[in-house]
Amino acid sequence: MTTNDSTSPASAPAQPPVPVALLGLGLMGQALAVALLEAGHPTTVWNRSQAKADALVAQGAVSAPTAGDAVRSSSVVIVCVSTYDVVNEVLDPLAADMGGRTLINLTSGTPDEARRSAAWAAEHGAEYLDGAIMGVPQMIGLPDTPLLHGGSRKTFEAQEGLLRVFGGANTYLGDDPGLPLLYDMALLTLLYATQQGLTHAQAMVGTANVSATEFQPLAAGIFHSVLAGLFDTESARVVDESDYATEVSNVSTNQLAVGHIIRTSRELGLPTDWLEPVQAGLDRAVREGHAADHPARVIEYIRPNAS
Ligand SMILES: NC(=O)c1ccc[n+]([C@@H]2O[C@H](COP(=O)([O-])OP(=O)(O)OC[C@H]3O[C@@H](n4cnc5c(N)ncnc54)[C@H](OP(=O)(O)O)[C@@H]3O)[C@@H](O)[C@H]2O)c1
Repeated sequence: MTTNDSTSPASAPAQPPVPVALLGLGLMGQALAVALLEAGHPTTVWNRSQAKADALVAQGAVSAPTAGDAVRSSSVVIVCVSTYDVVNEVLDPLAADMGGRTLINLTSGTPDEARRSAAWAAEHGAEYLDGAIMGVPQMIGLPDTPLLHGGSRKTFEAQEGLLRVFGGANTYLGDDPGLPLLYDMALLTLLYATQQGLTHAQAMVGTANVSATEFQPLAAGIFHSVLAGLFDTESARVVDESDYATEVSNVSTNQLAVGHIIRTSRELGLPTDWLEPVQAGLDRAVREGHAADHPARVIEYIRPNAS
């Protein structure tokens, strides 16, 4: 069970300046550092390649020679490096310095990696929040930029004002620190599946010399209305209640449609390997007597421990 509390910038209390250590000055870390400095938080930065701190020092940051110096400078430590392996490599030697601090990890990875980081922080006496930034560095600091957070609610509430510096749409998902990355990966699944579909569609129409530019407005208009149906509350209820009765578009109709896509792709010389698992799920549902059901029934074959 998760609880979503979106907080607009206007509705949450202002955050007094708080000393922050920021580890990692890649593309995202740079944007986070600028946002902290612009909000007036005394900011100590550290990066493996120290030269990346130079421009930030000119804007008021303190550049720490080591990650340990950065951690010991501040009660709040934010880490945003490439992977959790790097987080561990940087922080493991600093375990003895973590007690009493709050570690906010904005690095991308897997939910279990986040949970292991949370356990490590707890073992060493630190509060821990995990976060997923749902945007690119250029979006940091904007009122609508979404960030997802998980960990202790008390810690989230204590740091909410600080986190708002990075984006105005902070959502607290629950005390499981794996939730932000679980949501992140779920949303990225949607993104990449859609991107793959768009790319395939562009290649399809391209075989008739239709440019992506020509195709785009029609595709966007129609796809928006399709999306509205996919994301309506009824589609979610069908899944949650495993109640697949439908009078709209059923497994059989969708099985035929995917078959047409695959046969057309073959005619055009386009790959079909990524579409075949879609067809296999629908074929199985038909074989098992569910042709008249809602196509969401295939989730029964995807869930862990599905038979
Ligand atoms: N950029 C985005 O659009 C975006 C969006 C959402 C989330 N994120 C997430 O934010 C995190 C940082 O992304 P980014 O865009 O800033 O990546 P990036 O530009 O590639 O920067 C990577 C950072 O990790 C550091 N690093 C890598 N290996 C290291 C090591 N062995 N020891 C110490 N430091 C090491 C780099 O230090 P050096 O500078 O010394 O190489 C740099 O600070 C990632 O987890 C990413 O998935 C990024």
